[in-house]
Amino acid sequence: MNDVTRWSLPDEVATRAWGAALARGMQPGLKIFLAGDLGAGKTSLSRALIQALGHAGPVKSPTYALVEVYVISSLYLYHFDFYRFESPEEFVDAGFGEHFNETSVCLVEWPERAEGCLPPPDLRLYLHHAADGGRELEAVADTERGQACLNATISAGGVAACCVAPAPR
Ligand SMILES: Nc1ncnc2c1ncn2[C@@H]1O[C@H](COP(=O)(O)OP(=O)(O)OP(=O)(O)O)[C@@H](O)[C@H]1O
Ligand SMILES: [Mg+2]
Repeated sequence: MNDVTRWSLPDEVATRAWGAALARGMQPGLKIFLAGDLGAGKTSLSRALIQALGHAGPVKSPTYALVEVYVISSLYLYHFDFYRFESPEEFVDAGFGEHFNETSVCLVEWPERAEGCLPPPDLRLYLHHAADGGRELEAVADTERGQACLNATISAGGVAACCVAPAPR
C-alpha cells in the first residue's frame, strides 16, 4: 500500500484501456480520486470504466452537473467533478456526502476542490500531460480495498506498469 505505480499512456486508446481494466477492480464502497490538470484525461478514463462496466449510453463529463449517476447491475456509480466549486464547503451544502457509502462507487474528478470535506479515498489516480503529447498516470492505494482494486486492474492485462516506487513521505 502507499507505493506509487506509474504508467505511460501514449494516446487516448491507452487511457481508455486503463479505464476498462479498472472495471475489473470495482466493488461496492470504493472511493477513487482522479486528479490532474485540465484535459489530462480524467473523464476519458472514467468513461471507459463506466462503459466497460456495461453502461451502453453516453457518459457525459460532470463538469456542469457536478455529478452523473449510473446504475449498473444494481451498483450505484457516482461520477463527480468539483472543478466549479469555489470552496470545499459546497460539497457539504450539496449533500453529496450521503453518496459516499458502502453500497456505491464514487469517482471524483478535481477532489482537491473539496479538500477537507471529502471522505478519504481508497485509490488516488493522478494524470499528467507528458512531453510527447501523451499522458502519465500514477496510482496510489491508501486502503486494502484500494490495493485490491489496483491489483485487479493490473491483473486484467494490457496495463503493464512502467515502475513502482515508494511514495514520498
Ligand atoms: N493518453 C492520452 N494521450 C493523448 N491524449 C489523451 C490521452 N488520454 C486522453 N486524451 C485526450 O485528452 C483530452 C481531454 O480529456 P478529458 O476530457 O478526459 O480530460 P479531463 O482530465 O477530464 O479534463 P477536465 O479537467 O476538463 O475535466 C481528450 O481530447 C482526450 O482524447
Ligand atoms: Mg473531466
